[in-house]
Amino acid sequence: MLRIENLTVVYFGVISVLHGVSLNAESEAITALLGGNGSGKSTLMRAISGILPIYEGEIQEGEITLNDVRLNKMKAVDITKKMRLTYLMEGRPVFEYLNMTENLKAAASCRWDAEVPRDIESVLEYFPPLKDRLKMQAGYLSGGEQQMLCVGMALMTNPKFMLLDEPSLGLAPMMVEEIFRIIRRIKDERNIGILLSEQNAMVALKIAQHGYVMDNGRVVMDDTAQELLNNADIQEAYLGGSEDKEKNYSEAKRYKRRKRWLG
Ligand SMILES: Nc1ncnc2c1ncn2[C@@H]1O[C@H](COP(=O)(O)OP(=O)(O)OP(=O)(O)O)[C@@H](O)[C@H]1O
Ligand SMILES: [Mg+2]
Repeated sequence: MLRIENLTVVYFGVISVLHGVSLNAESEAITALLGGNGSGKSTLMRAISGILPIYEGEIQEGEITLNDVRLNKMKAVDITKKMRLTYLMEGRPVFEYLNMTENLKAAASCRWDAEVPRDIESVLEYFPPLKDRLKMQAGYLSGGEQQMLCVGMALMTNPKFMLLDEPSLGLAPMMVEEIFRIIRRIKDERNIGILLSEQNAMVALKIAQHGYVMDNGRVVMDDTAQELLNNADIQEAYLGGSEDKEKNYSEAKRYKRRKRWLG
């Protein structure tokens, strides 16, 4: 299990962004991480995957563990290689001038072994549309094809846990459905744990088992995916019909407080 306890993150030593975030994401399950722009989803994923230093960020307090191994001070390469946790960053990060096969090979560079060519074949099984475009430069692929390639690249690192950062961003609704169908299939067939950051709450909660809602660097709500889908605050804020987002976020916070008092 991936465990985050009371995590505080700052950028440039002064810009405080995460204020005591706690979260558990089960292995072999999909956990949705919901929240609007700037709520801290990517920062949390950067902290988990060890790449905060690239952004001049640092963990000030708190603990991150994966299966009881502490990740806080671990190098990003070891988190991928030894802990087998892979972070697929937002914005479809492909090597534009490399073709698809070369991108998949590059993603496997942290583990190069005899199984890589076979794994390329098995990864492509998930993405039939990619199969006849293997020699095309990744920069010329459609947004949906690039996102599929990115998920394929993440799989080439042979992960047991994946952080997927807004895979639906900028994609047409049909392509979003397709990508999420593939993500669920990957989780089921490979028994991978997935933390899935999304603004598209409906599609994320449909394939997730549990969900967390972030606002302004804090977790303001968490529940089973089914309960969140039924929750009036979530429906207002994320599933359409919201006229006043600020009001709904503050109601989400009140909901959390109410739950704490009851607990
Ligand atoms: N390198 C950085 N330096 C300073 N502030 C940063 C940096 N990266 C992010 N921030 C700030 O941290 C806050 C959280 O940003 P973050 O990107 O983690 O949110 P997010 O939930 O992923 O948003 P989005 O949905 O837009 O991707 C924002 O206020 C953002 O401006
Ligand atoms: Mg983000």
